[in-house]
Amino acid sequence: MNKTIKIQKNKSLKQINAFKLDVFASEFIELKTMNDFHENIEYISKKDKKMIIGDATNILFLNDFDGLIVKNSIKGIEKLPNSSPLLIKAYSGEIWNDFVHFSVNNDLGGGIENLVKIPGRVGSGIVQNIGAYGVEIKDLLVSVEAYSFENNKIITFKKEELNFEYRNSFFKKNNGKYFIISAIFQLQNKPKSFILDYGNIKNNLKNIDKLTPLIIANTISKIRENKLPDYKVIGNCGSFFKNPIINYSLFNLLKSKYKNIPSYPINENLVKIPAAWLIENSGFKGYEIGGASVYDKHSLIIINKNNATPNDIKSLSEQIITKVFKDFNVKLQTEVIFV
Ligand code: EPU
Repeated sequence: MNKTIKIQKNKSLKQINAFKLDVFASEFIELKTMNDFHENIEYISKKDKKMIIGDATNILFLNDFDGLIVKNSIKGIEKLPNSSPLLIKAYSGEIWNDFVHFSVNNDLGGGIENLVKIPGRVGSGIVQNIGAYGVEIKDLLVSVEAYSFENNKIITFKKEELNFEYRNSFFKKNNGKYFIISAIFQLQNKPKSFILDYGNIKNNLKNIDKLTPLIIANTISKIRENKLPDYKVIGNCGSFFKNPIINYSLFNLLKSKYKNIPSYPINENLVKIPAAWLIENSGFKGYEIGGASVYDKHSLIIINKNNATPNDIKSLSEQIITKVFKDFNVKLQTEVIFV
């Protein structure tokens, strides 16, 4: 059944993309329930140019979108009965941070507490394999149910089939081919151990006797609030670039010139370095082009400071890539997806 009644034409995306860019979609639909999904999936399937979004917290719209934008707001969280270890199903349009809060408020952990305050929805979190403070969404995931636009049917994928990598997944590589419906996560009830090795988390917890997922989540929330801008207040998409992974011969060369360059070993050949450090040390902190600016509290973030155009943001990112390459011989890659 074709419920075109829900389709909006020539829709402004200004309040619908985290960069708050003034772009339009020729068609737009928001799905809020599984009923909406079933009623409209045939229409969506037939569209050649379409894009499924959550809160567009990792997307830079370079132009108006001449096609159908499907905003996925299908919410729901269900504990699967009698599951041991504990399994929870979350629908893909559930706000990721609400899912984290549901978990920690029920004393459920296992790593999800470290992913508090990451913007976006469950589905986009899976596409992007969101991560923070030593945990990635893949570490909690068991399986994903997705509608295939190629086969017009629902397929269940086990985590192992989804080729997760740092900020990458099967769904990101097969962009536009699937609509993620829901996912099953494995959490721990009243966990005794926590992942606290990243940065200064341990320091922030040193006076607390008994740790709980809620305490960890509250602590990490505060750390994030101090350095990351809220996209609802200042348009931004979080980390604009991925942290580059380089080989040790380049790293040793850099280390000999820059004694304080931070690093996180990946294996005996590779090491990850913070893009924020490279950008700051190329002189970009606070640098502006048009209405776009490198955030002054964290140089991995580009903000829409003053009615930025997509081109302001793109030009700023290109200048950063060029200068960082010239200064450090490291080619930055964007985490944000350009559309
Ligand atoms: N740093 C600077 N200048 C800055 C900010 C940071 O030199 O302005 C250096 C510092 O040495 C700092 C290091 O960069 O110790 C790392 O900074 P931070 O701990 O803030 O983490 P990040 O590497 O910049 C990554 C993720 C974040 C995630 C944090 C915490 C990526 C691309 N980003 O950022 O994820 O919240 O770690 O785990 O991997 C996101 O993906 O949108 C995101 C915010």
